[in-house]
Amino acid sequence: MAKQVRQANRSDVRKHEGFLRDGNFRWLWVALALCATSIAAYVMIDAEPRPRGGTMYGYIMGTIGALLIVWLSLFGIRKRVITSGVYSLKAWLSAHVYLGLSLLVIGTLHAGLHFGWNVHTLAYGLMVLVIVSGMFGAYAYAVLPRELSLNRGETTQRQWLETIRSLDAQLREAAQPLDRAEADIVRLSTEQTDISGSLLNRLTGQYPNCSTQRAINELARIHRSTPRGSNASLDQVDALLKRKQETLAQARRNIRIKSLLQIWLYIHVPVTFALLAALTAHIISVFFYW
Ligand code: HEM
Ligand code: HEM
Repeated sequence: MAKQVRQANRSDVRKHEGFLRDGNFRWLWVALALCATSIAAYVMIDAEPRPRGGTMYGYIMGTIGALLIVWLSLFGIRKRVITSGVYSLKAWLSAHVYLGLSLLVIGTLHAGLHFGWNVHTLAYGLMVLVIVSGMFGAYAYAVLPRELSLNRGETTQRQWLETIRSLDAQLREAAQPLDRAEADIVRLSTEQTDISGSLLNRLTGQYPNCSTQRAINELARIHRSTPRGSNASLDQVDALLKRKQETLAQARRNIRIKSLLQIWLYIHVPVTFALLAALTAHIISVFFYW
């Protein structure tokens, strides 16, 4: 699974620029036309009971829906083949997004707005889950790459690591003249820097246990409880800790944006497989009981 959800690197993110507007919204219009035709046919069919899964209309809509789902599922393979032009990855993604969204209308009309506690509705629920996670992904690809480049400038992950390493060395040096308790506080930061933290830390961007922040707070507390005028070493340590904290904050913002660009795929891809399984069970079961 981890291999399917790849790293969102710079060129990968660039490939998606402007995918929602690709070909002057060509696929948005195609999807709207598909939805409008399906709704018009549903409304115009004058039959009692209303069209549902087992009617002619239901079979046509079900077949269109199932074919679309299989085609959308193949996107993972298409994504890994490089081509350009009308059928570029961007055009495919644009079609993927708009036709994927149209399934909400197609699937609902196929079922005749009728749901129950059965494998049919399970397939429908999984489809909705894939679509909603896809919406988050489309939003992420449309908005986050800009934030990523604004935050990063020309700095790379490696440069941040080097800066932190160099600040740690300067901190160790500057902490030499400090007393034992103060030096221990500085060691909190230099000996346990966890840049990326847990998944929750990465997604929220909150690092309540950050050892550098704790060191800054502890030093401020000591300073408040025993004021003793200006102390050059302590001031230097404080300034270095704050610089390290700023560097960490910037690196973590970068990690957060990259995590948001990937996390939804952990739902989108596995649920696609579950959907294909439930859909197969749905189709087999309706023919079995027919
Ligand atoms: C070749 C494709 C498909 C065929 C032949 C097919 C067939 C059917 C049939 C015959 C029914 C009526 C079952 C009954 O009344 O007991 C039905 C209902 C339903 N189908 Fe499909 N279907 C297909 C694709 C899909 C797709 C793509 C979805 C959505 C993911 C879906 C979701 C549903 C739902 C939610 C119902 C209604 C269940 C209920 O009334 O409780 N089907 N389908
Ligand atoms: C039932 C419908 C859908 C299915 C089965 C489906 C399936 C997939 C699959 C298998 C991938 C490839 C993931 C990978 O291998 O990394 C993918 C990628 C993607 N899907 Fe969907 N998808 C559906 C609907 C949607 C919708 C409605 C949206 C947006 C509103 C969407 C947005 C995306 C995006 C942005 C990607 C990533 C493209 C990339 O990383 O280059 N999907 N989808």
